[in-house]
Amino acid sequence: MTFLALSLAASLAYLTLPSKPLPAAALNNGVGKLPFMGYNTWNAYHCDIDEDVIIQTAQLMKSLGLADLGYEHMNIDDCWAEKTRSASGDLVANATRFPSGFNNLTSRIHDLGLKAGIYSDSGWFTCQLYPGSYLNEARRQFQNWGFDLLKYDNCAVPFDEIIDLGMVGKYTRMADAIANLSATTGQPPLFYSLCQWGREQPWLWARKLGQSWRTTDDIDADWEHLASIINQNSFITWASDFYGHNDMDIVRSSSIWGNGNLTFDEAKSHYTAWSLMKSPLLIGTDLTTVTNETLEVLTNKEIIAINQDPVVGTSISPFRWGVNPDWTFNATHPAQYWSGESQNGTIFMLLNVLDDSADMFFNLTESPWINAGRQYAVRDLWTHTDNGTAVRNFTAKAVPAHGVVALLMQDAGPEPAGTQPPCARPEWCIDQNGTLVQ
Ligand code: GAL
Repeated sequence: MTFLALSLAASLAYLTLPSKPLPAAALNNGVGKLPFMGYNTWNAYHCDIDEDVIIQTAQLMKSLGLADLGYEHMNIDDCWAEKTRSASGDLVANATRFPSGFNNLTSRIHDLGLKAGIYSDSGWFTCQLYPGSYLNEARRQFQNWGFDLLKYDNCAVPFDEIIDLGMVGKYTRMADAIANLSATTGQPPLFYSLCQWGREQPWLWARKLGQSWRTTDDIDADWEHLASIINQNSFITWASDFYGHNDMDIVRSSSIWGNGNLTFDEAKSHYTAWSLMKSPLLIGTDLTTVTNETLEVLTNKEIIAINQDPVVGTSISPFRWGVNPDWTFNATHPAQYWSGESQNGTIFMLLNVLDDSADMFFNLTESPWINAGRQYAVRDLWTHTDNGTAVRNFTAKAVPAHGVVALLMQDAGPEPAGTQPPCARPEWCIDQNGTLVQ
């Protein structure tokens, strides 16, 4: 074969290769276009759950107005089961804690206009050593009980020789079971919320299996955990879009978003980062004792609107790290200057990772989502005020320690004629004749 014939054959072979889905393509089975919002029992109650707690919490989600804002999932976490399976191998709801049974519970949750979530594990046991779902994925229990969402954990992993599957294979077993059951019954598939703490880079593969994936280990109610999680997620913001979301975790202490270890400013930073980075938003505080301050954070409609934007699914991303050189991985000082698109304009998040208050300055066109030569109307998403117009740059004065500024910038027409210097970015500022302008 001549060289020409060989290369022609090679190109034809290439053209006829079956096309593979791009790694970035998310599974769209109709479920979970937007980050899910709701409640999860683990933070406030750990194993101390029963049907009264669940119903009371669901009722409070309604009466406190949280459900109307989009917090629609009432999710039961670990410890709901009996320690032993039924004779036929089914999981059994704990008879003392859930005497009325799960069908009754999910219909009461549904009657409140909410969705019901359940928890299981991809291994032999859950993290609290209740029976897991490995090799039992095809049982139809969760769907038959009326649940809409499954959080699927990563404890008590069967060892290599037994499982003969990697992490992806293990989580695929449940994805397949969910898809098969939906195909058989015609019911919508369970929302599949993978929880394996960011092991083996789920942001690369979990999108093909489910709607969200935890990216990090469990967090705690202190700034160190929040900063560390924001730092880790700052490098994988590209992975969240419609139908697939980095899950930055709920918080493990019921005191968070309440009167616990976080200051009010830290709680606002927490909520802003989670929302604008398109993480699921799961409330983890005891709603019977929730404070007004906590509710103020959880009910910020302007922040929620970005998280739940039906037109733009992508996350904000850092455009400048600030105290560190760009791209620095630093658990205590994550990136400070972030921006992203929204259906209504450009979003900015300024995070003061320092222990003292600080002014925070940026040039608008440092963000890729700003047009040069335009001015922008500034909306503050925490003070809920319109703060005039920004031309070329913006300074947030005295941002509190560990505090946040969240802004929506909307195009407000051309910048004033003659605004100096001619180029906001001096690099290659050159006129038509090839003369450097400054
Ligand atoms: C962990 C998980 C927590 C919680 C807990 C229950 O693995 O990350 O969010 O579900 O298990 O045992």
